[in-house]
Parts: sequence; structure tokens; C-alpha cells
Amino acid sequence: MTPRDYPLEPFWMPFTANRQFKAAPRILVSARDMHYTAEDGRSILDGTAGLWCVNAGHCRPKIVEAIRRQAGTLDYSPLFQMGHPGEFRAAALVAQLAPAGLDHVFFANSGSEAVDTALKIALACHRARGEGHRNVLVGRERGYHGAGFGGISVGGIPANRKAFGNLLARVDHLPHTHNLERNAYSRGQPAWGAHLADDLERVVALHDPSNIAAVIVEPVAGSTGVLVPPKGYLERLRAICDKHGLLLIFDEVITGFGRTGHAFAAQTFGVTPDMITFAKGVTSGAVPLAGVIVSRAIHDAVVNSAPPDTVELFHGYTYSGHPLATAAAEATLALYHEEKLFDRARELAPYFEQAVHSLKGAGRVIDIRNFGLMAGIEIEPQAGKPGARGYQAFLKCFEKGVMTRVTGDIIALSPPLIISKGQVDEIVATLAAVLREIA
Ligand SMILES: Cc1ncc(COP(=O)(O)O)c(C=O)c1O
Repeated sequence: MTPRDYPLEPFWMPFTANRQFKAAPRILVSARDMHYTAEDGRSILDGTAGLWCVNAGHCRPKIVEAIRRQAGTLDYSPLFQMGHPGEFRAAALVAQLAPAGLDHVFFANSGSEAVDTALKIALACHRARGEGHRNVLVGRERGYHGAGFGGISVGGIPANRKAFGNLLARVDHLPHTHNLERNAYSRGQPAWGAHLADDLERVVALHDPSNIAAVIVEPVAGSTGVLVPPKGYLERLRAICDKHGLLLIFDEVITGFGRTGHAFAAQTFGVTPDMITFAKGVTSGAVPLAGVIVSRAIHDAVVNSAPPDTVELFHGYTYSGHPLATAAAEATLALYHEEKLFDRARELAPYFEQAVHSLKGAGRVIDIRNFGLMAGIEIEPQAGKPGARGYQAFLKCFEKGVMTRVTGDIIALSPPLIISKGQVDEIVATLAAVLREIA
């Protein structure tokens, strides 16, 4: 290992125990396909597609070349009152992949910005329709919608909300769908729990439907530890939203771009929302890009409500559709198509399911759940020290050459869609050994 020639201290790391990390850092220096290389030269099998984003695998030459080419052609162009071809092409490609009727794309740079954008579009849409009183936003317990004030407010992860989550007053939450007594070890969608969607009727009655703007949920909640929607749950949410004129937003920052076996989970579940937020997989993580896909009805309501020479939506970011990002997106979407990676994810899902469920009985496992190429393995928390076993599992997997993600005592897997069956086995064998060690 070459000596580190940079200081660790000045960088304040996000969502990280900074002092713990800097005392024993884990530094990655390169990546290719399914593997990272750590600074000590060890190869690390990527069980989490980076942070749920590297769906096409790492440093794929066609994506790298597209970014390189774009950087030497048009590095940046202003995106307000100006355009460049890449953003129009990338928007069309994303819209083509979306469910029918969702055909306009607003770009942002991160999932957090995409969520805030979707919430603002919901408010703008109701206002444009003469229903500006609809301004209550409904999220769900255990939901993760990024770190912006909008996303934190509709989000439902207590640690994230504690200091920052209560500034938007007009927010309410549905109950989460996690239930170990009823649904432990479900394969795919749990049978129990569709009725939990009916809680939306309670929220609607409490606030009055005329005051509610939108409901936002992750179709499969990812960051909170892979919570798969019970059979019929999303359909019920859709029906209740329709009944009361609420907009339904699917936050597909994790589930988008093949994770569930189709371009979007909306298609896998056969439930079409009014907006889809996306990020991560749109460029396979190579350059930050995110956005919101909106229905024509929403787009037209907002855009047609203003005179043609006026800005219709006072919203956007300096890098909303950055040339490098849209070049990366075009190349990534082409690669998904060429290699049929969404089909691959769907075809591999039963093998993945079988493999992860083989961990039942290992160590202190109390639940295993899966959908598409996502899985959550929940272990019994150590008395008085929630999260300690999960963190130990993460560290030991890394030491043994496998990258996992933990949230509390839940180990999450979401490998790149190019993973082989042998590599699935390797991840599961490593986890089995680690779970034995920490039992
Ligand atoms: C469902 C969901 N929404 C939003 C976000 C926020 O995305 P970002 O970290 O790019 O801001 C995430 C990140 O993991 C996410 O999983």
C-alpha cells in the first residue's frame, strides 16, 4: 500500500461516524465491473452497486468514453433560457422508459433535489388548477426521500427527522408496512398488509381531501432496510389518491433503472403514479443526475397556466441537465438496452431470492426479505446497542472482500445488474460466515 499523501481531517464525511471512520479508514481507489479495489490492493465484490446506483457495473468503457468525449466538446452550457442537445435527448430516453402517460422530465442533480422538485411541482400543479389550498404533503414512516428539507419532512426515518424534520408544518405520514410477526421471511411481496394503505383515508378525513396535495412513497422502501409493499397495497394507495384528487409520487431513486426487473417499479407492480422521481441508476452512478418524470396532465396544467412568454415554474438548478451528466445518461441507457440488463435482473431474481433465503437460521437472523435484485437481512439487535451487530457485520464483510450496506441491524444487498450467479453465491457465503462469527 502506498502511503496516504492527503489528510483525512478536513473532509466532513456525510452520514458517517467521522471519528470512528478516520481512526480506521476504508478507502476505495478504483473500480471495474463488479469490483472495487481498496487502497491496500484488495478486491472488494460490490454487493450494493455502490450506494444503490451502479446498476450497469463500474467504469463501463462506453459510459466512460461518452463522458470523456462530452468533457472535451461542451463542458457546460447554461441551462436557464438556453439548451444543449444532450438534455433533450436524455429526457426523451428517460420518458420512453417510463409508464405510458408519464412523458415529461425535469432534471435535477440528486435524489434529494428530485424529491423537492416533485413536491414543488405537486403544489404548483394544484395552484395552476385553482386549488392552491391543497398543500398538505403525505409521506410514510420509515420512508427515505433524501436530505433536503422537503424530503426530510415527508421522510420517516427518526434519526434524520429529529433535528430537521419538523419545519414543514403541512405534512402527515402513513404507517410503514414492516411487520415481523406477520411477514417475516416473505419471498417477494408479503401477503399481509394491503389494508395499511387505508390509513390514507384517515389522513384524508383529518385534513379534508381539499387540502391534500400529494402522497409520496418508495414503491419498495430501500434505505430503511428493503421493505417490500404487501400485495395490493400500492393499488389501494392509487385508488384512494384517485378518489380524492391527490397526486401520487413514486420515489424510484433506488427502484428505477432495472432494480426490480423493469425500468421502473411502477411497471413491475402495474401501478402508475402521477410522478416518478429518479437518480442513481440513470447514469449508473458515473455523474450525478436525477429528475422527475411527470404526467402530461401535470406538465400541461403548470405550463399552460402561464402566458407563453413567462417562466412557468420558478424552479431549477445550475446543473439541471449538465452536459456530462446527460452524456453519461445517454450512454448508460443505451448499455441497459444493449445488454438487456433489466431483463437480466428479472431473470436472476429467483436465483438471488433462493440464495439470500438460504441464510435463514444463520447466526441471529430474524428476517429475510427480497424483491428483484434487492434484499434485506435483519439481525436481532444486541441488547441496549441497536445497530452494533449490523455495523460489525458490515465491517467483517468488508474485511472478507464484500461490500454490503447496513441500516441499523439490517444488511441490505442491491448488486449491480451484471452480477453473475457465482458472485451471488460468493456474497451469500461471505454473509453466512460473518453471521456465524457475530452470533
Ligand atoms: C428513495 C430515495 N429518495 C431520495 C434519495 C436521495 O438521493 P440523494 O442521496 O442522491 O440526494 C435516496 C437516496 O438513497 C433514496 O433512496
